[in-house]
Amino acid sequence: MSKRTWGDFVRDLKLFLWNPETRQCMGRTARSWGLILFFYLVLYTFLAGMFVFCLYIVFLTLSPHTPTYRDRVAPPGVTIRPYIKHTFNIAFKISQFSSWQPYVENIEEFLKAYDDKVQEDKNIKCTAGRYFFQDEKEKIKKSCQFKRSTLRACSGLADQNFGYSIGQPCVILKMNRIIGYQPGYGNPITVSCNLQKGNESDLPAIQFYPHATFDPMYFPYYGKFAHVNYTQPLVAVHFKNVKKGQALNIQCQLNGRGIINNYNNDRFLGRVIFTLNIED
Ligand SMILES: *[C@@H]1O[C@H](CO)[C@@H](O)[C@H](O)[C@H]1NC(C)=O
Ligand SMILES: *[C@@H]1O[C@H](CO)[C@@H](O)[C@H](O)[C@H]1NC(C)=O
Repeated sequence: MSKRTWGDFVRDLKLFLWNPETRQCMGRTARSWGLILFFYLVLYTFLAGMFVFCLYIVFLTLSPHTPTYRDRVAPPGVTIRPYIKHTFNIAFKISQFSSWQPYVENIEEFLKAYDDKVQEDKNIKCTAGRYFFQDEKEKIKKSCQFKRSTLRACSGLADQNFGYSIGQPCVILKMNRIIGYQPGYGNPITVSCNLQKGNESDLPAIQFYPHATFDPMYFPYYGKFAHVNYTQPLVAVHFKNVKKGQALNIQCQLNGRGIINNYNNDRFLGRVIFTLNIED
C-alpha cells in the first residue's frame, strides 16, 4: 500500500465537497439537502411555536393585579422611619445638631408624599372606620387621603424637628402592604409600644397620632397597578419623656385578629424592635 500524499487528500476532499459525476455535495444531492433543511426548518419552527404558545398560556393566567400563587395571606410586618444606615438604632445627643439632623431629614423626606396639598390633589376623602371596598370592574382604584397634618406634633409642621431637638423624638410606623388584606378582619388593629425589658416607668407618656390604630378605610390594598395613588396609613409615636443616657429597647407592635407579633424568628412580623438612646 502506498502512502497517501497530501495531494490525494486534497483531491478527495474536493470530491467530497462537490462530486461533479453524481452531483453530490458532501455526499448528498441538492434534493437530499433540501429535504433535510426543510425538515429542520419545520422542526424548529414547531419547537419555537410551542415555546411561544406555552409562554402565552402562562401570561394569560397571570394578573398584573394580584400574585397568582399565594399559599396564604401572611400577616403584615412593620417598619419605622427614621431608618438610616440600615439600622433600627436611633441614637442622638440633643445638644449636637448633627447627631439628630439625619433622622429629621429622613422623616421629612418620607412625609413629603403625605403633604396635605399632595393628598388633596391625588386622593379622596373616605369614611373612617370601615373597609373601602371598590368595584371589581373599576380597573383603577381610588385611594384615601392620609394627610400629614393629622400626625400633629409628629407632622413636622408645628415642630420641624419632629421633637428631636428637644429630646422628644417621633418615630413613624408603617405596615407592609399586602394585596387584598383586611387587617383585623372587621376590628381595627391597634398599636402599642413598650420596653422589651427594664423598668416600664422609663418609657412614660407615649402619644400616638392620629390614633393608636390603622384605620380600616385604607384597606384592602389592590396592588400597585390598580391602586396607583395608594397612600399607606401611618401611626406616629411620640416619645415625650423617655429616660435619657441609656439605650432603651423598644418594641412597637400590632394587636388584633390574625396578627402575629411574637414569632421569635422574625423581628418584623407584626412588630418592630428598635433602640432609642437619647443624651442631653
Ligand atoms: C392620582 O393622582 C393624580 C395626580 O397626581 C391624579 O391626576 C389622578 O387622577 C389620581 N388617580 C386616581 C385614580 O385617583
Ligand atoms: C422603676 O422605676 C421607678 C422610678 O425610677 C422606681 O420607683 C421603681 O421602683 C422601679 N421599678 C422597678 C421594678 O425597678
